[in-house]
Amino acid sequence: MNASGSNCSESAVGPPLWLLAELTYRCPLQCPYCSNPVDFARQGEELSTAQWIEVFRQARAMGAAQLGFSGGEPLVRQDLVELIAAARDLGFYTNLITSGIGLTDAKVAAFAEAGLDHIQISFQAADEELNNLLAGSGKAYAQKVAMARSVKAHGYPMVLNFVTHRLNIDRIDEIIELCLELEADFVELATCQFYGWAELNRAGLLPSRAQMARAERITNEYREKLAAQNHPCKLIFVTPDYYEERPKACMNGWGSLFLDITPDGTALPCHSARQLPVAFPSVREHSLAHIWYESFGFNRFRGQDWMPEPCRSCDEKERDFGGCRCQAFMLTGDASNADPVCGKSMHHELILQARREAETVSATAETLQYRNEKASRLICRS
Ligand code: FES
Repeated sequence: MNASGSNCSESAVGPPLWLLAELTYRCPLQCPYCSNPVDFARQGEELSTAQWIEVFRQARAMGAAQLGFSGGEPLVRQDLVELIAAARDLGFYTNLITSGIGLTDAKVAAFAEAGLDHIQISFQAADEELNNLLAGSGKAYAQKVAMARSVKAHGYPMVLNFVTHRLNIDRIDEIIELCLELEADFVELATCQFYGWAELNRAGLLPSRAQMARAERITNEYREKLAAQNHPCKLIFVTPDYYEERPKACMNGWGSLFLDITPDGTALPCHSARQLPVAFPSVREHSLAHIWYESFGFNRFRGQDWMPEPCRSCDEKERDFGGCRCQAFMLTGDASNADPVCGKSMHHELILQARREAETVSATAETLQYRNEKASRLICRS
């Protein structure tokens, strides 16, 4: 049933094209900007190998083409090679999103043999000390550098991801230099978005406007220099919602093409939706076709019928779908409100206030709340 109470037909809704398999919430690192739910410690048992493969089979039969393996840290799953091979046999384009911790040369070779198409490694910072402080591991930086080189040596395109924030963004030139040294082909310089643990730490992570402007200018200077050299490295700079003037078309629209399966089998239209006061179905109980086309959760914010003003009469609603439902919920307590990033939202002042605070706040790595099981358990209890 959709928000207006009618059944949703397959002809009106396209299939999920992109499946994200969050294989586990377990992770050896403790990044304070992790987008996993802060209450991950109370989530249920992980799906088995056979259950994951059945999810892949159903998604592929529905038309899904791309499958991302993520987490937590997906490398902690001992069946990762088996899952990759199964996805590949089904014809998926597969992508591993990893911190590189737990990776070895032998594993990269096994993943390549199993047919993995793409590996993305994330870094916390360009300097070893800050990287390891944010990651919570004294060995993280050296391991990431070694594994980035190994991925490249196995013939994969080098795809690096840096989450930038007020504690590392002033060294963006060093970040780009490291990427060039590692012969990166694609670099995502993604300024932190505020979901999960990042939302808890927003005051300490949101860069100031001057920091953002400087980072973007330096990135553009590097882009021009690289283009003049015909250099293959592509730099992708992602501005955080808090400095955008228009809301993003989150997930390209609710239940439009993105399907996320959490470690315990809960199906979500985005990685953060579990926090919403909406019931989401499990692959343990329902087929993916039922979940995608018929479930209340996937129809709740699909299309435009659910929209109140100002979205309902907005001439941009077909482009941005009212922005992000999770951000609307986190900031206003009501997921059907316009995303406060939008200047037409009656809650836009919350964004302006956060920007003002970012001009004056003094934060250090020590003041952040790090993501780990103990902290999650405490949050669950409070
Ligand atoms: Fe959930 Fe944007 S992250 S709708």
